[in-house]
Amino acid sequence: MGADSMEFPEISAMRIVFLGAPGSGKGTQAVKVKSELGIAHISTGDLLRAQVRAGTPLGIKAKAVMDAGQLVSDDVVLGMLEARLAEPDTAVGFILDGYPRNLVQANALDALLTRIGQPLDVAVLLAVPSELIVSRLAGRAQAEGRKDDTPETVRERLRVYAEQTEPVVDFYVRAGKLIEVDGVGEVDEVNARILAAIRVPA
Ligand code: AP5
Repeated sequence: MGADSMEFPEISAMRIVFLGAPGSGKGTQAVKVKSELGIAHISTGDLLRAQVRAGTPLGIKAKAVMDAGQLVSDDVVLGMLEARLAEPDTAVGFILDGYPRNLVQANALDALLTRIGQPLDVAVLLAVPSELIVSRLAGRAQAEGRKDDTPETVRERLRVYAEQTEPVVDFYVRAGKLIEVDGVGEVDEVNARILAAIRVPA
């Protein structure tokens, strides 16, 4: 798979993609790394949920797709991402959480980041076995009632991940940008592994 760690000339302004199955801890870790590195956190899932809450036409369309565990259309998500990347806080670096999710999105991201002169530094894959994912998401379903955490939808999200998102892992291996991190353990332990992998002192 990818390298164990990589060295970067400067840790500020890092541009990072977090990859991993639903429930692998991307959002949890992105929030921590955002404050540790002082960079922006962009979650396409959060952006979409904000549209759903606001009842926008985009949100109304996206809701049915998300509740079914499917992917929202590439054009819609890319448009949202492009607008978010144009905001000034991203100039100091960013973590993308939940994007790209298929090869079309991976290529679109590459082209977009090249165009805006902000190429990606690293893609961090959080590796977590599916039994653990199912139990984490069952816990969140009880605690938070997220609509797409029902057992059937989690199964579908995992199927979509295996079919559409796993090829993105190879995309970043081929680009020499993938680092795989063990995502099993306490949140702080996983966080320390991520920082070590990208060579940031914990
Ligand atoms: P999105 O919101 O991106 O969901 P996801 O990828 O399925 O990820 P999750 O938020 O479920 O998990 P996570 O890996 O972030 O883990 P988390 O930290 O939350 O997307 C939702 C939907 O939006 C998609 O299905 C799709 O429809 C649409 N969408 C989004 N992006 C799209 C795109 N690019 N293209 C098209 N459609 C898109 O943790 C999960 C749980 O585990 C939490 O309860 C947490 O507290 C717990 N946990 C985390 N770490 C640990 C740990 N170390 N130990 C124990 N528990 C832990």
